[in-house]
Formats: sequence, structure tokens, C-alpha cells
Amino acid sequence: MIYELSNPITKTLVTHLRDQRRDAIRFRHTIAELTKQLAYEALKEFPMLQRKITTWTGEAYCDTVDEQKIVAVTVLRAGLPMLESVMELLPEASAGFLAMKRNETTHESVLYYDRLPNCKGKTILLVDPMVATGGSMIDALKLIKTKLPSKIIALNIIGSPEGLKAVQAAYPDVDIYIAQIDESLNDNKYIIPGLGDAGDRSYNTSE
Ligand code: PRP
Ligand code: URA
Repeated sequence: MIYELSNPITKTLVTHLRDQRRDAIRFRHTIAELTKQLAYEALKEFPMLQRKITTWTGEAYCDTVDEQKIVAVTVLRAGLPMLESVMELLPEASAGFLAMKRNETTHESVLYYDRLPNCKGKTILLVDPMVATGGSMIDALKLIKTKLPSKIIALNIIGSPEGLKAVQAAYPDVDIYIAQIDESLNDNKYIIPGLGDAGDRSYNTSE
């Protein structure tokens, strides 16, 4: 299932990201805000717990997301602001890290570090802003699947139709929540119109 957000605020924030004048700190803030919007939508049906708390009128059982059943996994570097955003929303979730780099000649992703916590029986929120060829996401999902989670949900900011199709074909059981599906990829496998290189835009490394 691929679910593209349609809210006008979401689309406005995506436009801000495309704007080259957006500096790195505001770029990361916008990524973080969009991530929260994606998480709200993705967790709409997530099971709730009753937690005993002390309210101003005494003890009460109140609804809360079972955060400990959630593992947020990021793909470095560009996914880092998305991870921070999810962890602000769900501070009791655990976090996992995958470091990947696309080879800019072959356009294939190379995994060079992974640090995943216990994922067995948990819901994974896999966060990466860009789905271009889909290669990074497919490699990430392949690895995460070996950890036996009960469900995997991907949160992405911008994707190409061909990349999303490739991910869906490889892993049809993964739900993808995305802020914007763009038009295509160029010859260098960058998303058009896209926003450029999300890692560079976040961390001032474009030169
Ligand atoms: C970006 C992005 C994805 C990947 C998408 O990372 O964050 O991980 O490209 O491309 P794909 O769908 O064709 O695999 P990048 O390799 O640019 O690394 P960075 O985050 O360090 O900039
Ligand atoms: N990675 C990015 O950051 N942007 C693209 O358009 C493609 C891959």
C-alpha cells in the first residue's frame, strides 16, 4: 500500500524543501515537521494501551500508544532529522541505524554500517526522505526482515514512481506513507523535480 498525503500544509512544506534558499537548519526542521505528519497518518490504527497516570483529579487509566512496540530505523545521513522527529513524538520507542551510500556511478546503494535493536514482533518505522531508484529502501528492508518484525511501515518525503513501484514489487507487505510522489528520475537517478541531494541539503555538503 502506498499512501500519499494530500493535505495542503504537507504540499506547502514540500515546496519549501524544493526551494534552494531553504538553509540547512530550516531544511531539517521542515523534514522533521513532515515526518510528524507522516507518523500521525501511519499510526492512525496503531493499538493503544491504558496507562495509569496521576491526573489533577487523582489516578486514572488513559489511552497511550504502546511506544515500546515501535522501532524507528533510519538510513543515514539524510534520514537522521526524520529519526529525531519520530523519537520526539515517541520517546519510548527504540532506534536503529543503517548507513548507506549510493554509488554515484552505478547508482546502487552500499550498506557500510548497521546497528539494529531487537525488532522481533515489533512495528518498524523505516525513515528515509528519498526513494529514487528504491535500491536503498529495498536493501534496508531485506536486512530489517531478517530481524523478524511484525510489521514494517516506511515514512518517506519524496519518491519517484519507478522507485516506489520497485519497493512495492519487492515487498508488497510494507506500507509506504509519503508526502509527495514526483514525476520521474533523471539520468543520474535523481528525482525530478525532487529537491536535490537530501543529505547535502541537510548538512551543507553540496560542494
Ligand atoms: C539518499 C537517500 C536514500 C537514497 C535514495 O541517500 O537518503 O537513502 O539516496 O536513493 P535510491 O532510492 O536510488 O537508493 P544518499 O545515498 O544520497 O546518502 P546521504 O543520505 O548520505 O546523502
Ligand atoms: N538521493 C537524494 O537525496 N535525492 C535524489 O533525488 C536521489 C537520491
